[in-house]
Amino acid sequence: MKILVLGSGGREHAIVRALLRDPSVREVHAAPGNAGIALDVPVHPVDATDATTVTELAGELGADLVVVGPEAPLAAGVSDALREAGFTVFGPSRAAAELEASKSFAKDVMAQAGVPTAAAHSCATAEEAAAALDEFGAPYVVKDDGLAAGKGVVVTSDRDEALAHARACFAAHGTVVIEEYLDGPEVSLFVLSDGTNAVPLAPAQDFKRIGDADTGPNTGGMGAYTPLDWLPEGFVDEVMDQVARPVIATMADRGTTFAGVLYCGLALTARGIRVIEFNVRFGDPETQAVLARLRTPLGRLLMDAATGCLAGVRALEWSDEYAVDVVVAAEGYPEAPVKGGPVTGVEDAEALEGVSVLHAGTGPGPDGGLVAAGGRVLAVVGLGQTLAAARERAYAGVERITLPGSRHRTDIGLKAERGEITVPAGEAL
Ligand code: AMP
Ligand code: GLY
Repeated sequence: MKILVLGSGGREHAIVRALLRDPSVREVHAAPGNAGIALDVPVHPVDATDATTVTELAGELGADLVVVGPEAPLAAGVSDALREAGFTVFGPSRAAAELEASKSFAKDVMAQAGVPTAAAHSCATAEEAAAALDEFGAPYVVKDDGLAAGKGVVVTSDRDEALAHARACFAAHGTVVIEEYLDGPEVSLFVLSDGTNAVPLAPAQDFKRIGDADTGPNTGGMGAYTPLDWLPEGFVDEVMDQVARPVIATMADRGTTFAGVLYCGLALTARGIRVIEFNVRFGDPETQAVLARLRTPLGRLLMDAATGCLAGVRALEWSDEYAVDVVVAAEGYPEAPVKGGPVTGVEDAEALEGVSVLHAGTGPGPDGGLVAAGGRVLAVVGLGQTLAAARERAYAGVERITLPGSRHRTDIGLKAERGEITVPAGEAL
């Protein structure tokens, strides 16, 4: 099987590495990839959101399967163009990708499917926004109603700040969704769908804020770990029954069949599981941790999802190890990442037992070296028999990396390691 992976982030590097472990995968290519992906497989300098050039590339390569990594090509209709040209694609249509691209579309689908989520209002003016803020009260949650790479959401107890974010979205000709605050630990669950059948991966937890102890602004994600020992028994089955299957069935009923990966962003509140958001692709940086533990061959699995054949797939196989990944971000991330800084120590880090390094925003530097070329530069993944061992390995890897001014969180997986995550009482599991 020959597979083309679209995208250039840490998620795509993790997907490429997992595909290379699948014996049925003969060849992997990436477009555009990054400096680290280029060390593993051939990369092609093609804009992943440009349907015409992507389709040409898939044709030149004779790709058996195209895996779309990020949301932007999906929202741009690249998967539709590829399918029309006769290719097999892992990734939903543009119409189905609205589940992520539009927060209000997602709320509609959830209402129709009877899926529990935060109460919310779509607002188009400052007056509507102010009324919604006052209805729900603090803490305030204001979301840009469009794709914002995880950075369009402001959660704050400061009403002026909440209103200012809404005004900024209106000024950019957008609308906002204002919703009730969901209190409780967050979980990311990826569910593979072939349009009808659904297969869950292992739950993971992401760390969205830039600073330790969840301080500072939201980012694309600063690290993740899996599995989550603190989850109540039956959690995954409950999400499948209450969230994933009803959404997949509703999408099919609406004529926007969802095939690909449904990323369920969930909060475990005192009133039960609530959906925070859906994404229509694998999460970054959760994928770096989740795929590090996956033993079921990924190429076959994505092909089955893309061709309506998931009915034959039962439970997936997982390593019994824990995986933790820590993102090393460039100076100034997330506001204004500084590009061009030299990155060293990747090979040293990978030489450590149980440590791998997945590239995100890296580019080729002078003298064959590496430079930072984006906000999130690398994810260092540690695998270990305990969460503590996996954390220790990931952080030992991070210590080997140098990038002037770089930042990373020091507490990825720490609360879980200390047994400090509690599911609120009253949880209806
Ligand atoms: P989103 O882009 O919708 O995933 O939001 C980004 C982050 O903002 C989430 O991962 C949460 O940490 C936080 N967030 C979003 N919606 C809510 C909510 N209703 N209550 C509490 N936190 C939220
Ligand atoms: N980890 C958050 C996201 O991928 O959107």
